[in-house]
Amino acid sequence: MAGSEIEARLPQDNGLPARLLRAAGAVSSSWNRFWRVVGIYMPKRLYARSLLIVITPMILLQSVVTLVFMERHWQTVTQRLSMATTRDLAAIIDMIETYPNDPDYSNVIRIAQERLSMKVDILPADPLPPPGRKPFFSILDQILSAEINKQINRPFWIDTVGDSGVLEVRIQLEGKVLRAFIRRGQAYASNTHIFIVWMVGTSLVLLMIAIPFLRNQIKPILKLAEAAESFGKGRPTPPDFRPRGAEEVRRAGFAFIQMRERIERQIEQRTAMLSGVSHDLRTILTRFKLQLALSGPKPDVEALNRDIDDMQSMLQGYLDFARGEAAEDPGLFDLATYLETLVDEARLRKKKLATVLTGDPTIHVRPNAFSRLLANVVGNSLRYADNIRVEAVHTKGSLTVIVDDDGPGIPATRRDDVFKPFVRLDEARNLDSSGTGLGLSIARDIARSHGGDITLDDSPKGGLRVIVRVPA
Ligand SMILES: Nc1ncnc2c1ncn2[C@@H]1O[C@H](COP(=O)(O)OP(=O)(O)OP(=O)(O)O)[C@@H](O)[C@H]1O
Ligand SMILES: [Mg+2]
Repeated sequence: MAGSEIEARLPQDNGLPARLLRAAGAVSSSWNRFWRVVGIYMPKRLYARSLLIVITPMILLQSVVTLVFMERHWQTVTQRLSMATTRDLAAIIDMIETYPNDPDYSNVIRIAQERLSMKVDILPADPLPPPGRKPFFSILDQILSAEINKQINRPFWIDTVGDSGVLEVRIQLEGKVLRAFIRRGQAYASNTHIFIVWMVGTSLVLLMIAIPFLRNQIKPILKLAEAAESFGKGRPTPPDFRPRGAEEVRRAGFAFIQMRERIERQIEQRTAMLSGVSHDLRTILTRFKLQLALSGPKPDVEALNRDIDDMQSMLQGYLDFARGEAAEDPGLFDLATYLETLVDEARLRKKKLATVLTGDPTIHVRPNAFSRLLANVVGNSLRYADNIRVEAVHTKGSLTVIVDDDGPGIPATRRDDVFKPFVRLDEARNLDSSGTGLGLSIARDIARSHGGDITLDDSPKGGLRVIVRVPA
């Protein structure tokens, strides 16, 4: 299709569909960005996340309710109460000014006391005190001041802070000052905080009920994760593991158990088959050797015997390979002692081997498998190099063993291949050829079944560097 045709079929740039598509794309990309940011700041653990999912809506709801309540109910009620109180004050002022002949205003004071529940005094015409400290958060102060301004409109002074139960109002009249003490509750919806206390209290109770439930729901998931993790590291699954909890979690638990059994069965079958084959072949080889011995000394017999020996050691290799993953219980392995045996072996083979061990020498692995791993790796170095250095670093939960040698090394391009079974580079090198090419693949198998791995690198000594990392 020609370019112009394609263009013709595309939605027009200014057409509605294209604009809609663009808008939808923008919305979905900002939505994705939003979730990425949420993912970064969300707690990482399931328990904390679930708690957050329960608590956040609750706090949000309560904040909204409280805000609306304050705004509407609290403010309105306080406004009405303040308005009524100010009206009473205005009425008292009217009475004082309507009957100025009352010598000590005793009637006004009595009426205010009996009918309006206010304690009123008439003070001499001193100037009003300076305005007091304004409370940080008091709608009473604001609303009452506004009402007095509106209804009475004379200089005044109020104190809503001094005494918690009573508020004091002073109003400048002609030649005198009216002072009134009013109960706080008369002008202000003062029991509002009870509402908030109840709301927060009930949510706390609800949370206290919800948290154990949540914990119970999450525990089976954590147990499943633990079991899968220890199976991945080649350790036995915790003895008390059984699928529990919600149906989906239980289903995952049963699936995990089935999977584990299938894998174990496969490994067992593989081991049984290989050891069967090796055993049968070995019997034949032994017979073969016997027949050769009986046939008397001939020049070729020597060579044939060597071949048979090679075949026997190869069979042993296959057996080891098959047994690599066969069940062995994890236990404690003493690295220090093992490194000493390596030094002894090197001395016997007239090679130089230096060891460095940092951290706790006792590690938690499958002992036989792990010593086979190290034996294979160090065995290669002993075969191919003269100077070897083994460094083991054991930190909390992880062990790193680095084996350096000054042998021919392995070119970077072949480093993946040598881990494959039966791959050897020696044919080309024309070196001693007794190996089967299984050593490194067995070693990697063992490392991986412990939840770790083996990698190869260049060594500062000039040969190969093998790095073994396992959780221990
Ligand atoms: N330290 C080393 N230096 C140089 N080449 C090495 C070293 N280790 C391994 N290799 C090369 O990698 C190949 C594969 O090693 P691997 O241990 O798997 O088999 P192998 O040693 O030949 O036989 P096996 O270990 O089964 O007796 C070896 O044939 C060798 O060519
Ligand atoms: Mg080897």
